[in-house]
Formats: sequence, C-alpha cells, structure tokens
Amino acid sequence: MAFSLLHLLLSLIISLSSLSNFSASSSSSPENNNQNDGGKTFIVQVQPDSKPSIFPTHHDWYSSSLSSLSSSSSSQPPTILHTYSTVFHGFSAKLSPSQADQLQSLSHVISLIPEQVRHIHTTRSPEFLGLRTTDPAGLLKESDFGSDLVIGVIDTGIWPERQSFHDRELGPIPTKWKGSCVAGKDFAANLCNRKLIGARFFSAGFESTNGKMNETTEYRSPRDSDGHGTHTASIAAGRYVFPASTLGYAKGVAAGMAPKARLAAYKVCWSAGCYDSDILAAFDAAVADGCDVVSLSVGGVVVPYYLDAIAIGAFGASDAGVFVSASAGNGGPGGLTVTNVAPWVTTVGAGTIDRDFPADVKLGNGRTIPGMSVYSGPGLAAGRMYPLVYADSEGSDGYSSSLCLEGSLSQDLVKGKIVVCDRGINSRATKGDVVRKAGGVGMILANGVFDGEGLVADCHVLPATAVGAATGDEIRRYITAASKSKSPPTATIVFKGTRIRVRPAPVVASFSARGPNPQAPEILKPDVIAPGLNILAAWPDKIGPSGVASDKRNTEFNILSGTSMACPHVSGLAALLKAAHPDWSPAAIRSALMTTAYTVDNRGETMLDESSGNTSTVMDFGAGHVHPQKAMDPGLVYDISSYDYVNFLCNYNYTTKNIQTVTRKLANCNGAKRAGHAGNLNYPSLSVVFQQYGKHKMNTHFIRTVTNVGGPKSVYQVRISPPAGTTVTVEPERLAFRRVGQKLNFLVRVHALAVKLSPGSTSVTSGSIVWSDGKHTVTSPLVVTMQQPL
Ligand SMILES: *[C@@H]1O[C@H](CO)[C@@H](O)[C@H](O)[C@H]1NC(C)=O
Ligand SMILES: *[C@@H]1O[C@H](CO)[C@@H](O)[C@H](O)[C@H]1NC(C)=O
Ligand SMILES: *[C@@H]1O[C@H](CO)[C@@H](O)[C@H](O)[C@H]1NC(C)=O
Ligand SMILES: *[C@@H]1O[C@H](CO)[C@@H](O)[C@H](O)[C@H]1NC(C)=O
Repeated sequence: MAFSLLHLLLSLIISLSSLSNFSASSSSSPENNNQNDGGKTFIVQVQPDSKPSIFPTHHDWYSSSLSSLSSSSSSQPPTILHTYSTVFHGFSAKLSPSQADQLQSLSHVISLIPEQVRHIHTTRSPEFLGLRTTDPAGLLKESDFGSDLVIGVIDTGIWPERQSFHDRELGPIPTKWKGSCVAGKDFAANLCNRKLIGARFFSAGFESTNGKMNETTEYRSPRDSDGHGTHTASIAAGRYVFPASTLGYAKGVAAGMAPKARLAAYKVCWSAGCYDSDILAAFDAAVADGCDVVSLSVGGVVVPYYLDAIAIGAFGASDAGVFVSASAGNGGPGGLTVTNVAPWVTTVGAGTIDRDFPADVKLGNGRTIPGMSVYSGPGLAAGRMYPLVYADSEGSDGYSSSLCLEGSLSQDLVKGKIVVCDRGINSRATKGDVVRKAGGVGMILANGVFDGEGLVADCHVLPATAVGAATGDEIRRYITAASKSKSPPTATIVFKGTRIRVRPAPVVASFSARGPNPQAPEILKPDVIAPGLNILAAWPDKIGPSGVASDKRNTEFNILSGTSMACPHVSGLAALLKAAHPDWSPAAIRSALMTTAYTVDNRGETMLDESSGNTSTVMDFGAGHVHPQKAMDPGLVYDISSYDYVNFLCNYNYTTKNIQTVTRKLANCNGAKRAGHAGNLNYPSLSVVFQQYGKHKMNTHFIRTVTNVGGPKSVYQVRISPPAGTTVTVEPERLAFRRVGQKLNFLVRVHALAVKLSPGSTSVTSGSIVWSDGKHTVTSPLVVTMQQPL
C-alpha cells in the first residue's frame, strides 16, 4: 500500500494553519476587530488553584476576568458559555481577537483553544458478533448484561419513548449516579427512567455562533430532532425489541450491545453541527455524573491534541477511568483520513455484517447489475421495463444535472423514467426526492470513482437502488449506446428483501476512514473495526427514515450506515467488559478488544476492502474486527496509565505547556525522553516510521509491558511474523507468570532494509507479534512504514 508523503504534509499544514495561527493574525491586524465583530469562541484553560479567595466560585472568578478585559468597542464584556471543572479547568467564551490576546497574557491563563465545529459521522449485528443470550458462558451472562454500567452518548439527543429505552425488569439506578434529567422543549424530567437515567443538552456554544436556535425545527431540550443520537444510543444499549424492522426489512430481534446498561444522553449536536465548547461541557458533565463509558460518533478536522477539544475532554475522562470510544470518520477509502486519533481514545472504523438488502437493476440489454436498497412501498410494475435516462448536461450552477440536485431535473426529461443519479454534494435520499418531484418513477444511485464499489442501502422515498462505480459506468455506457440505437435504453429495479449469511463478511466499509494516523503515525489508527453498514436501530417519530424533509413515514427503527454506527457497538462492548472486569482501566479494555480482534472473514480469508474488492490492511482495520467473546478473556493486557500518556507527549516533543493543556499535569520530560521514543507508549499495536535518508539499514526497538489477567500460572511463548523486508526479534521469547496481575516486560527489535521508493512516497508492510499460552492468543499488529524524503 502506498500513499504520498505530500498528502501527509499538506493535511498537516492545512490542519495546523487553520487553527494555530489565530494569535499571529489577531495581534498584528486591528482591522480584524471590525471584520470579526462577532468574535470567535475559545476554550480558555485556567490554573485552577490560583483562584483568589475573594471569589466564592470559579465561575465568579472567570466572569471577573472577562469583565476586566478592555473592549475596543462599547460592547458588553463577553459572557461565559460554559465553565469546566471535571475533565478540564476553565471556561469558554466568544472573544474578539484583542480580548483573546489580553486573556492570554493573564498569568493564570494557560491556553486558549479556538473552537472547531464537528459533525456526526452518519438486528442482526449482535448476533453476527456472537452475542447470544442462550450462550451459558457468554459475555452477556457473566456481565449481567452490564446492568450497573452507564454509557454516556454525546450526540444529537434522544427520543425517549422508544421500546429500546424501556426500563422493565431493570434494577434501581446505580447509587453512584449523580446525573440528572434536564427538562426542556417537549421533554419532561420524568421522561427519564431506569434505562435512560440521564439527559442533558448543551447549546450555548452553538447559539453564540449561530444566534438563537430555530425552535420550530429543533428542540431546546435533550429530545432528538435528527435521529442520529437515538440510533447510536440504542446500538450501544438498546433493550431487546421483537419484532423489529424498518418498513419490513431486517425483521427480527433488535438489541443493543449491552441491553441492560444504563444510558445518559448528552445532546451537543444541532442543525449547524456540534460545537467544541458544548462537547467539552458534555464530557465534563458525563464524567462528573458517573458515566463509565462515553460514546462519541462525532468528528472534525484533525489538529494537534492540545488544540483538540475532543482529545482534551477524552483525556480527562480516561484519567478518571472512563472509557471513550469515538468514530474514525467516514472519509475513506483514501489514506490519512482517520479522525479522533488520540492514543487515549478507542478509534472505531466500520465493517459490514452478514446481512444485506439486494435490489438489482435489470437493463434492456438483458444484463443484471447488483444493487442495494431498503426502499419499501409501491414498487415498479412487475415485468415492465421503464425508459432510462442519465441527465449529464451542465446546469447554471456549474454542476451536472446528473447529480440530481434540487431543481436540476426537468419534467420533460425524466417524467415516467428511471433516472441514473451520481453520488455527491446532496444526500443520497435527497436525490431520490428530487427525481420523484420531477416525475421520475425510480432512481439508480451510481457511485463515482472515489466511492468505489461500496454500497449503502437507504430508505428511499421512491423505488431506488445503489450501484458501484464500475457497474455505474456500465449503465452509463449502455444508456449512451442505446440512445443512438433503435431500441432506447430501458431498465427496472427488482427488490429482493433481506438476505442473511452473506459471504464474505465482514468487509471493511468503503467510507470507513483509514490510517495512517495523521497526528502520530507511531500510533496505529483506527484501533479496531465494528459493524457500521446497514445497522438497524431505534429512530424518532416525526423524522422520516430517509431524513428527507418531505418524508412523513414513521418508523420505530431505521437502517443507517457510518462509523457513527460502529462506535457505539464498541461502547456497549466496553460496558460489558467493564461489568465483568470492574478493575480494568480504559486502556486494558481497549487492549482486550484489540489483541483478540480478528482479521479473517467468514470464508476464512483476509477481510476485503469494499471499495476495491482487494484485501484490506492494518491501515483499514487496525488490529481487526472486534470479537466480544474473546475480548472477555484476553489472557494478557497492555495497560497504560495517565503518566505513560504524559511520557508519550514528551517523546512527541510537545512543550510542557501543551502537555499541561491536554493532561492538566506538569511534565518533566527529561526522564521520559531519555527512556525512549513515541512508539514506546505501551500500546497494543506497534508502529514505526523510518525515514530513508540514503540509509541502507534502519533499526528501532519497542519496550512493552504485559499484565497477566488470565490464569495465575501461565507461560506464554512468542510467535513473530515479521513484516516483509524486516528482521524482528523479541526478548525474552517466553514469559512465565506466577500470579494474576503480574507485569512482565519484553523488548522488540526491528531491523529493516531500505526499499526502492520514489521521492516523497511511502511503503507500508505489516506483520504481528503473538503471545500464546495454548489457551489465549494475544495478537499485536506490527507496522513498518518507509518514507523516502522528497
Ligand atoms: C499566519 O498568519 C500570518 C499573518 O497573517 C501569515 O503571514 C502566515 O502565513 C500564517 N501562517 C500560517 C501557517 O498560515
Ligand atoms: C424556522 O424554521 C421554519 C421551518 O423551516 C421556517 O419556516 C422559519 O422561518 C424559521 N424561523 C426563523 C426565525 O428562522
Ligand atoms: C487492487 O488490486 C489490483 C491487483 O492487485 C491492483 O491493480 C489495484 O490497484 C488494487 N486496487 C486498489 C484500490 O488498491
Ligand atoms: C523529537 O525531537 C527529537 C530530537 O530533535 C527527534 O529526534 C524526534 O524525531 C522528534 N520526535 C517526534 C515524534 O517528532
């Protein structure tokens, strides 16, 4: 696999320049003040113990700091949007450039973090993962379904009146719980129950940038006006619901990963996105409330950890023993697209499950093209062929009408026909709505080259199906050829319902964001993949399953795809693992998920990449696909303390101040730097990047520590699969444990020979280090990246 170094550099430059340059521009140009009269929201980190005693609370102190700022205009002093006291110390406020500069110069202010806007990364899956209630020794039994654990879902809110959030047969709310059920528009405080034990919303950051929210289109309350948060929450911890289906598809039992775990909804995403100041407030509340797991299917541009509110909030959570899983993003299949890449976050990519929804295209020339859809409703007339059209003329907006954008299709052209629409710009279901409004009878949604062959099934508003890039081209070519012939192009769509036991599965979803990690290539990301394609889960009333405004259908469930759907699978699993192993740290839980993950599909072959049909790699799936039963009993774990993360940041050459911004710890980096390099963080995967400056031979070493969580007397033997072109040794090759909890170290040496590469290009090879005691298999991917400097 190769990706260009230039791409890496560019993305670093773009991400750095967009955020780290604020003080430079603000101090130098007073005219910015006028242009930017609304200011920009900053998260301000304060030295908490320097609060003068005259201020009764930190909030009073922060307000006073803000009112003391001199303002160039006669405007009001900035108001505090949120104060933070659990995962971070400080507050957020909208500031003019000069106010930001003044604050930065105060001795008790450590740093100012400019806000970023994030976006959501939009049932058979528990069964596919091997979670069966009838399995006597299963994970669900041993953990009592995770009933004392609380999963906080930071998302678009929740629709509480769903069967998935019913509280029958659940015990009392865990006594440690300190959260609350905040009332608001169409959301009474008594809507929480013993299942949904907390609900809050955070909108100050959103409203300070966008003005007051439109209360006709969104609820000023924890209620979900989008659907995404309801869906993700029920994936993590929905109750058993039977029968569950979306418009007749995917019939069966719906259940979340941890059906008895408690849920708390933290709504931070609004119509214009999810604002950092609100997200950090949600982390602060989730940890203070007593969540055990935080699930975040939201992401944005990758920036250094000290500018990344999600990384900072997640560090505070992890420091407090709270497991954080986050979606990898949907920017795949290109390399370097993975987001939420901090080493204290578990980063989750998406795979397919062994269920799909075939809906084939039959062309007038007799060809059948495989497609995918969950359209339900009046179908096309059986046996009848419809005229087929591809509208590829350029519109006045410069876009081709083949994209089926609003108003781009003329009735004359498409009425009574099946229309081929290209993916891109507007949502897949919206294209169907555009075709329907113009009088079209059906739609074939064709991938572009970039989308590859990955197909997403949608609840379309008219008979429609999705086809891949290569088959899309075949259909376009057929239309061109047939239009010139005596028999004009025709087609129909044949809906085949739900198909199960599909092989191969899992397959890495096309859209799933890929490594390498753009912040720290020494930390392999994503960590794991989990089901994220065509996932059935709960859905609100009043929002049609297609998400199109004109779609008035009501469904209890909906089928969605995205790493957003993969992340809460891992959040639910983490709750089950924590229930079974209450003493495990977040890093131990992640280690168990990673070292037991699998990389072969249900044919017994290496998982494929949906976008190309080729074999997938560690850059696509990280350690592999999660295997819940095995994760329950991993044998050994690679544990990591907050102090280890501080050392990692030292070795990453972060300044003491930047380390303090992320970790709230004052680091002395001298010791850490002597001890090693960034790759020495005790991570369950190993990754090294070699720069080939005319060197022939390159060496590195990794130190790792494993903790015995299996049998008291276990003896592990190592098995090494060196990446191609490398020699790898492990010392010692045998680890003999005498008790549970015992830690033993080993050293991995890697020698690599230079490979022929053109300037600026990169090659990645991977292998593995496997420890086995005959009962447990503890697998770590080992990745070697060679970079040829420009
Ligand atoms: C930072 O801002 C200064 C002044 O506006 C500009 O000259 C410089 O190119 C910017 N740097 C980056 C990395 O964008
Ligand atoms: C709020 O949204 C509704 C529905 O889209 C719209 O008709 C109305 O004009 C909006 N109100 C404001 C104040 O923007
Ligand atoms: C898939 O594999 C084929 C054959 O090895 C190769 O030519 C092609 O470039 C690969 N496609 C991608 C997207 O990697
Ligand atoms: C940190 O700085 C040292 C010394 O300049 C350098 O060798 C090392 O590669 C740097 N590490 C990272 C991760 O940038």
